[in-house]
Amino acid sequence: MKKNASDLAKRAPLGNLKPGYVSPRLSVPKEIERPEYMFHDGPEVITASDVKTPETVEKIRRAGRIAADAVQLAGSMCKPGVTTDEIDIAAHNFIIEQGAYPSCLGYMGFPKSICTSINEVICHGIPDNRPLEEGDIINIDITAYLDGVHGDTCAMFTVGEVDEESKKLIEVTEKAMMRAIKAVRPGREINIIGRVIESYAKRFNYGVVTDYTGHGVGEAFHSGLIVPHYDCAPAYNTIMEEGMVFTIEPMLTLGTVEWEQWEDDWTVVTADRARTAQFEHTIVVTANGGDILTLPSSSVA
Ligand code: MF3
Ligand code: CO
Ligand code: CO
Repeated sequence: MKKNASDLAKRAPLGNLKPGYVSPRLSVPKEIERPEYMFHDGPEVITASDVKTPETVEKIRRAGRIAADAVQLAGSMCKPGVTTDEIDIAAHNFIIEQGAYPSCLGYMGFPKSICTSINEVICHGIPDNRPLEEGDIINIDITAYLDGVHGDTCAMFTVGEVDEESKKLIEVTEKAMMRAIKAVRPGREINIIGRVIESYAKRFNYGVVTDYTGHGVGEAFHSGLIVPHYDCAPAYNTIMEEGMVFTIEPMLTLGTVEWEQWEDDWTVVTADRARTAQFEHTIVVTANGGDILTLPSSSVA
């Protein structure tokens, strides 16, 4: 049977995104404290426990709130015709106005202050001069560094009218993250997070990306603690402890979880160009579950 227009409106299209022009690097006022990786090449050199003091947790919450507010600001700009470069500039300016450093800028050579991952981009998309198009879905991933710690969060936004299949993917990805946050408890193995996410995603036949994971975060952007989003037991059996801080950031796909990377050495796309979605929060392990440290001001009492 021939597909009619209303059937087509329900299906997510495959992508054919191309790299755009990346504008020159933005500057950060010299008064703003930089993370240590800005002072040398290569990966971070930080040795801090993944279990934080209550004082450090509150610092991460303050950095996390700036990141979350910047994600909301960026999301409000996701309209047809707006470029991801314009969104990066607005988020950058917001973050520095708060006295924070946009952690992505210069991290392992990343050229921009935020990640903007459109349609088939799984993660680490670089803001460029491509105008957003009606029907796009976009992930905005922002990390802010304030008072010696990072807060890391991301969310999905829709551009104009978006097909039903993409909207469902976005809804399920956020719910998968929230279920995982609720499964956090001291004494449980960290691999329960991936078990919860994968079993929920499988109900909808979605792929769960395995090669990019959640991570310990705080004094370090990526501490070395790995938080898989797939069912990896008996591996990754670190026991969660009260005060432990890490991200949960599942990436789900409508097709394969195989990926390719652009020649920019950052942008990760699905091998089949099917759409993908991601949400992320930084959380602290408490006796009652995961406490979210990356809530925007609008939802904090
Ligand atoms: N914010 C991403 C994460 O969730 C990391 C981005 S690293 C960058 O871990 F260099 F691409 F910005
Ligand atoms: Co992260
Ligand atoms: Co992130």
